[in-house]
Amino acid sequence: MAHLNVAIVGCGNIADRYAERIVETPELTLVGATDLDRDRAERLVAANGGEVYGTLDELLADERVDAVINLTIATAHVDVTRAALAAGKHVHTEKPLALRYDDARELVELAEARGVRLSAAPSTLLGEAQQTTWKLVRDGAIGRVRVVYAEANWDRLERWHPDPRGLYAVGPLVDVGVYPLTILTAVFGPVRRVQAYASTLEPERVHRHGWSFRLEAPDWATATLELADEVVVRLTASFYVPPSQQRGLELHGDDGSLFMATWAEFDSRVELQPRGGTYERVPLVREPYAGIDWSRALVDLAEAIEDGRPQRSTGEHAAHVVEVLEAARASADGGGAGVDVRSDFRRPEPLEWAH
Ligand SMILES: NC(=O)c1ccc[n+]([C@@H]2O[C@H](COP(=O)([O-])OP(=O)(O)OC[C@H]3O[C@@H](n4cnc5c(N)ncnc54)[C@H](O)[C@@H]3O)[C@@H](O)[C@H]2O)c1
Repeated sequence: MAHLNVAIVGCGNIADRYAERIVETPELTLVGATDLDRDRAERLVAANGGEVYGTLDELLADERVDAVINLTIATAHVDVTRAALAAGKHVHTEKPLALRYDDARELVELAEARGVRLSAAPSTLLGEAQQTTWKLVRDGAIGRVRVVYAEANWDRLERWHPDPRGLYAVGPLVDVGVYPLTILTAVFGPVRRVQAYASTLEPERVHRHGWSFRLEAPDWATATLELADEVVVRLTASFYVPPSQQRGLELHGDDGSLFMATWAEFDSRVELQPRGGTYERVPLVREPYAGIDWSRALVDLAEAIEDGRPQRSTGEHAAHVVEVLEAARASADGGGAGVDVRSDFRRPEPLEWAH
């Protein structure tokens, strides 16, 4: 059976959810964790097993570690991933792979040079609702798709995150826009051109624990994207607008429309509207995982290594998404001028159960 020994770097907000799923998954073993704040690593290990490493170097020196799970903040992703790849470890990193395309490319090339895998979040494409939607598109349920509306409204993060300043620093397009971007580029191919607009709607924020902070980056952005398969996407991302109906994907084709209520949850509602008809819920291709299964990309990585095939969540794809984000920032900074995107990637295969 495919199996990976994994170790977590960065034991903050999302790490518990990864660790819980790793422990429940037979293909994975949690061998340990590290964090700049040792108490956090100790807490995670006390709850889920493994050992605490005092430093990243100590973790990388442990020969039992096959793969590093990089759950640090966005600004630390490149350094941690680079060190792990250089040490000959496979890496699965949380998004974004990097904040600059040049750094993202460097990591992809380093992984190739070292003969190790670079896997990158987001991996919500691997969910049952997302695979069902993709299958319906492949099967021609709505005919040729020409336009997609993608909504990534994630509300004010200070309502729930212990310290959201790291996420505000990169902004909503980078932090949550990457989810629909990754799904849509997997389905419809690479982005070829971007036009974007960004604005700061509410610069002064007050955390639910009472402290104030000021935003340095826009909290609202919209981008129009031209994809290789001649699909136009309008993507909105915000850390201001509450989710309500605005966390989903609408795909519109010549013969109908598809609606996924949220691109995030594996058990999202999916509805199909034949042209001229009304939206009706469609059954998912199999019984879905409730919520987000944070281990699914790791299991796919373990199986891909075992089978000698590419994993579905690749660094190459994530690097393309980083180039798109960079292009969107350049466009917004340049008054909305169109910016070309050149990188490409091998499109992932659908999961076997969704063929
Ligand atoms: N919080 C969520 O709901 C969520 C959901 C999906 C994805 N993510 C992604 O997961 C990542 C982490 O997010 P989070 O919300 O858990 O952040 P967080 O700030 O809560 O945790 C990050 C942790 O990384 C540690 N860290 C930072 N630099 C480090 C370094 N160089 N070496 C070791 N440890 C280091 C910090 O001390 C902190 O404990 C981000 O990339 C984020 O985009 C978060």
